[in-house]
Amino acid sequence: MSEPRTEAPFGRRLAPLEANRELGAYRLLAVRDPDGPTNPRPGQFYMLATAEGWGADGERPYVPRAFSYARARGDGTLEFLLEAVGPGTERLGRVSAGESLWLTGPLGVGFRVATDPKARHLLVGGGIGVAPIVCLSDELGERGEVLLGFRTAAHAEAATLFDHPAALATDDGSAGRAALVTELLRERLDRSGGEPAVYACGPPPMLEAVRAICAERDVPAQLALESGMACGFGACFGCVAPTRNGYVRLCVDGPVLDAADLDSALFAGAGH
Ligand SMILES: Cc1cc2nc3c(=O)[nH]c(=O)nc-3n(C[C@H](O)[C@H](O)[C@H](O)COP(=O)(O)OP(=O)(O)OC[C@H]3O[C@@H](n4cnc5c(N)ncnc54)[C@H](O)[C@@H]3O)c2cc1C
Ligand code: FES
Repeated sequence: MSEPRTEAPFGRRLAPLEANRELGAYRLLAVRDPDGPTNPRPGQFYMLATAEGWGADGERPYVPRAFSYARARGDGTLEFLLEAVGPGTERLGRVSAGESLWLTGPLGVGFRVATDPKARHLLVGGGIGVAPIVCLSDELGERGEVLLGFRTAAHAEAATLFDHPAALATDDGSAGRAALVTELLRERLDRSGGEPAVYACGPPPMLEAVRAICAERDVPAQLALESGMACGFGACFGCVAPTRNGYVRLCVDGPVLDAADLDSALFAGAGH
């Protein structure tokens, strides 16, 4: 099952930086993209690179990097939550006033919201994977229950992005409950009422735990997966992932896949 992709305009476009601010262990980037589509789907992503200084350090980073958008404001502003883990994310985290980003997108297939009026929407985000959960929570409003897990209180600062209350867990107990976010999910699923529908994004072990918990209970789940992406639009086959129906390219067939189509969310090249 897949829904039509939002058609990305052909080619890349320059998006001037509006803001780059620290958010605990992460950074929040806002760029102006007035000519891009105003209707990306939560879970879709953009390929980003800085206009200046990309490839400057021994040609690294070379290709652009993939980012889920956290918010698309109606005025043409896009917000991205970023964790610096290597040369691309470090360079992007250092963009300053007056600089612009090269941007392609929105790309891929995002989350598909269950239409059953009895659906109990459970949104599960882990670490930097909370980015697409922000815009999904905006869309669902009070109908979506948000469960967030982070390593520490510094990472949990990202929970302040949510307009609706979210249940919080950290690995070290420095904010919210000392627990894994999957424990919060298990508790919610053990409560009766409604037809649970789970939407998740986070590190591969978290996604695999979500997949297994939902499979045990026969609860439908959609997982936003990651793999190395060089092009973002189906050309390089760098992002292939194994499913029960054969290999798919996560950039065009995903990154959001039905958990029921996966034997495991842990596959070679998945996430970090
Ligand atoms: C669809 C999608 C959405 C994403 N959304 C976000 C987001 O909202 N915010 C954010 O901070 N990051 C996001 N990422 C991850 C981000 O693209 C990577 O962290 C980034 O490409 C790393 O580049 P780098 O040059 O900083 O580090 P690199 O040196 O390229 O990578 C650092 C380490 O991470 C591994 N790695 C890098 N990218 C990936 C990947 N995609 N999958 C598996 N392993 C990888 C590398 O093998 C290396 O070990 C997303 C990735 C995808 C595919
Ligand atoms: S990233 Fe190139 S085919 Fe998916």
